[in-house]
Amino acid sequence: MSLNPSYKQFKPFTYKSLNDLEKKIAELGLDIPIYPRVEILQQRVHVHNLFVPNRLAIQPMEGFDANLDGSPGDLTYRRYERYAKGGAGLIWFEATAISQDCRSNPHQLVLSENNYEKFKKFNSSIRKISDKTLKELGFVNKSILILQLNHSGRYCVRDGKRYPIRAYHNPELEDVKEFSKTEGAVISDNELKDLEEIWVQKAILAKEAGFDGVDIKACHGYLIHELFSSRHRENSKYGGASLSNRAKFFLNIIKKLNKILKNEKTFILTTRMSVYDGIPFPNGFGVKKVENDNFPAPIDLTEPLEIIIKLYKKGVRLINISAGNPHYRPQITRPYDTPIKGGILPPEHPLYGVHRLLNLATLVKNHLPDDMVVVGSGFSYLRQFAGYIAAGMAHEKRVDICAFGRMALANPNFPRQIFQDGIIDKNEVCITCSKCSEFMKLGKNVGCATRDTKYKQ
Ligand SMILES: Cc1cc2nc3c(=O)[nH]c(=O)nc-3n(C[C@H](O)[C@H](O)[C@H](O)COP(=O)(O)O)c2cc1C
Repeated sequence: MSLNPSYKQFKPFTYKSLNDLEKKIAELGLDIPIYPRVEILQQRVHVHNLFVPNRLAIQPMEGFDANLDGSPGDLTYRRYERYAKGGAGLIWFEATAISQDCRSNPHQLVLSENNYEKFKKFNSSIRKISDKTLKELGFVNKSILILQLNHSGRYCVRDGKRYPIRAYHNPELEDVKEFSKTEGAVISDNELKDLEEIWVQKAILAKEAGFDGVDIKACHGYLIHELFSSRHRENSKYGGASLSNRAKFFLNIIKKLNKILKNEKTFILTTRMSVYDGIPFPNGFGVKKVENDNFPAPIDLTEPLEIIIKLYKKGVRLINISAGNPHYRPQITRPYDTPIKGGILPPEHPLYGVHRLLNLATLVKNHLPDDMVVVGSGFSYLRQFAGYIAAGMAHEKRVDICAFGRMALANPNFPRQIFQDGIIDKNEVCITCSKCSEFMKLGKNVGCATRDTKYKQ
């Protein structure tokens, strides 16, 4: 399996049948498994002392529709109710800020001592709907709900303006005109030390709000992920040449939480990690140590795997594998046919982007003991055929759980359709038009402009 196959030219999705898709995958020489027996996705998955009722999950996706105090708004309820009626065994709730001042949008969710009762109500209402759906569909286990906690780092917004709080100055990102070099600052060691405590408190609050698990978000260019590549953070115990310094902030939070949750086997401590971001060395993570300006930067998972093994040794048994920094090269995180307004068509075949995401998760799965449950990403691009690829990944034990992002906004019933009809309805699929991402970039409420009447205007 090659993780750095030759560069392939962009072509949009035109496959009318599974056979067409299979032929294209073969022609491009990609490693994307297809397995027609989608019943495998109905198997439950063991994590600690819990069971995820089936192998399908909803990925975290910010909706920017929270109330100003950070609590879930009406549209937040609507989005999650739709997910809960779809039948996914695991719902991974979106990036929720650990404090007001590290939001990326004034309508991002924020978990606080003042509003956690509202999160509790939200959680219990979504759980009720999800459990009812799962029962109707014949699953014996109850839904698993995980909350993602984040600090937006260089993508923070304050008073309606960008307020980058950087781990370090990254020339690859600061050339982008919207991020001037003078706004915000590089976060200090003392500030990071204080943030460790806040993050721990908020993770415990997530437990008190009734979630089954908490994700210490380490992906997509936000604070923790950026620290992983902070080789140029000078005179700091949280950065520099040594990986243990660069991962210290993250691992300290995990260590502290472990201590508090020591005997807790029904609460899941997890993370979503970008194991590769495509930014050339020395400012990228999961990339080879070579001078190379070509896109995509070659992959080297030595450092990500070192961190993940440490997580395993600390008792973490669930990990959600992602890639990229969507503010830099969005196609690495979410392969698409149409860019957002003003964006560019990716200089690679979108199926190659799918291949990369699937194979990064496979590499992690292969490197860890069997009881590390791995969640994979990158399925929405495959439209109505996505269930067959998800089944292929599960059948070949390359991931344990297959999580869908944009497809869930377009068609929240996709799990039910896979379980009951064997295939997702082709008239309801995500067409990777990037409108949802465009809404997000513009700071608007996020939804599917193609399939959901609520967002068509
Ligand atoms: C509108 C939008 C919001 C997103 N918000 C989050 C988020 O809150 N947390 C996160 O980890 N990923 C987020 N993502 C990334 C998705 O979870 C997912 O990784 C990506 O869309 C690729 O999966 P897909 O091909 O199934 O859509 C977001 C993506 C989109 C399009």
